Formats: sequence, C-alpha cells, structure tokens
Amino acid sequence: MNTTNTTTRELEIAPGVCTPMLGLGTWPLVGEEAADSVARGIANGYRHIDTAEKYGNEDAIGEGIRRSGIARDDLWVTSKLSLPGHSRAGAIHSYDAALGRMGLECLDLYLIHWPNPQLGGYVEACRGLQDLVDAGRLRAWGVSNFKATHLDEVLAAGLKPAVNQIQVDPQHPQSSLLEANAARGIATGAYSPLGRAGEFLSDPAITGPATAHAKTPAQIVLRWHLDAGRLAVPKSASDARQRENLDVFDFTLTAAERAGIDALDTGAGPRLDSDAYGH
Ligand SMILES: NC(=O)c1ccc[n+]([C@@H]2O[C@H](COP(=O)([O-])OP(=O)(O)OC[C@H]3O[C@@H](n4cnc5c(N)ncnc54)[C@H](OP(=O)(O)O)[C@@H]3O)[C@@H](O)[C@H]2O)c1
Repeated sequence: MNTTNTTTRELEIAPGVCTPMLGLGTWPLVGEEAADSVARGIANGYRHIDTAEKYGNEDAIGEGIRRSGIARDDLWVTSKLSLPGHSRAGAIHSYDAALGRMGLECLDLYLIHWPNPQLGGYVEACRGLQDLVDAGRLRAWGVSNFKATHLDEVLAAGLKPAVNQIQVDPQHPQSSLLEANAARGIATGAYSPLGRAGEFLSDPAITGPATAHAKTPAQIVLRWHLDAGRLAVPKSASDARQRENLDVFDFTLTAAERAGIDALDTGAGPRLDSDAYGH
C-alpha cells in the first residue's frame, strides 16, 4: 500500500485503485446547502466526496457534482449502504438505488455503513459488493464501523474490503483497530477527523506544531492523519475552511510532534458501539 511522503495526495487502496486521501464530508448537509457545499468544494480543489444513503443527501450531492462541471473521471465518489442492503441481492439493489438518486453511472467506493452483526447479513452484502466490482460497475468496496471480529468474518469468506472507515481523532484514535486494519492490509478512512471541531484543537500538542509550521490546529490534525497513511473526510460548509483543510500538503510533522499528538489518546472508544448501534 502506498502511504506517506510530504507530497502524497493519493493512497492505493486496492491494486491499481488510488483515492485522493482527503475528501469532503457532507453529513449533516442536505438539499441546496449540500449541493452548494459540494459544488464549492470541488471548485476549492476537492476531488473526493463522502456521502451515504443515511444522510438523505445523495440526490443533492449528485446535483452539486453536476453543477461543478467537473469531469466524472476526475472525481472520487464514496457512498454507503444502510439496511436493507445486508444481503447479496440487497447490496446490489442499494447500489442501483444510490446511483439513481445521485444521477451517476457508477461510484468509486461503496461501503457497508454499519455491520449490524445481530442481523448476520454483512458477509453476504460484501459478496454483493464484490459482484459489482467483478462486473466492472464499481471501483472498490469497503466497510465502515467494523471491528476486527467483523473484519475477520469477511476475510474468512474470501472477501477483502479495501477500506474500513472509522471514527478517528487525536483523543479517540482507536489504536487497536488501526492496527487491526493495517495487519489485514485494509486502508483506514477517518471520519470525524477533526473530532467535530473538538476542544483538543486548542491543546498545546496541536497549537505548538501549528505555530511552528505556520498552520492552523485543524491543518495539524489533518496532517497527523495523512502522515499515518489514513484517508480523512473533514466536513466543512465554509469556503475558507474547505480550502484550509486541503492546504496540508506542503509540510510534514516531526516524529516528536506526532508523538505529542498521539499522547492525546484518552483510550475512549468511538461515540457509538457498532455491536449495538446500526442502520
Ligand atoms: N461512516 C460513518 O459512520 C460516519 C459517521 C460520521 C461522519 N462520517 C463522515 O465523516 C464526515 C466528517 O465527520 P464529521 O462531520 O462528523 O466531523 P469533522 O469533519 O471532524 O468536523 C466537522 C465540524 O468541524 C468544523 N470544521 C471543519 N473544518 C474546520 C476547521 N478547519 N477549523 C475549525 N472547525 C472546522 C465544521 O464546521 P463548518 O462546516 O462550519 O466549517 C463542522 O462543525 C461527515 O461529514 C461524513 O461524511 C461518517
């Protein structure tokens, strides 16, 4: 897997499949606000957009992409399926429905949003997503909020997700799950990468490097994700912050700075336990 240097902007998540490492998050935007944010995001330089069936904004994301005028081949689009896509046929049906809402012919990455382990359908849903890749209808598939036990069930069935998108920020790095993804050759995507503008942005472990590199705290945190070889999808509806969040490719953190940020780990788990919550 291709990972880090100071100018890397793409990560190879499957053989020959490279995704822009920074994407634009779109939750909780809907309607015109979502379409406008995506159109401006693309104008501001984003080439990777993150959405989901659950966000209720796939139609608006499609509208924003069309409004931007960007060539489809120049953009990476990720979405995620909810229930009832947790079967082989259901996953394909969910994909077709998402394409219909977005007005697109294909997605680049399609994720199972939550494992819903009590329903026992995610392995078959993965099989449906692999069918789509095998048919040339989808570039790559993955999962989200999967624990190591869920990943191992998928791998035992001979199926390999390209990405596990999970909640990661300096106070909630989920270190053991990061290691589990890496040990299985699965790329990590960080959601809520700024901790929803978490109070840690004012911690000296982050403001110190910000001063040293003439960057903002959010830029330091995003560089911390990139330096670890993670995808990240910060959400901003503000032009200035959209541009700020992309302007992180002209510096890198020192080992001591990275260690200082790593030390912010509270050991707390993610906001939601994926064995109990799902949709
Ligand atoms: N797979 C999943 O289960 C899952 C779950 C949650 C989220 N996600 C995805 O991940 C994306 C990002 O996560 P998130 O929205 O929860 O959290 P986030 O990206 O960590 O934080 C977003 C918040 O930070 C603010 N912000 C953005 N850039 C900033 C900056 N440079 N300085 C200060 N504040 C800044 C935004 O406000 P402004 O808009 O005003 O800038 C917004 O309030 C979502 O939009 C969604 O696409 C996936």
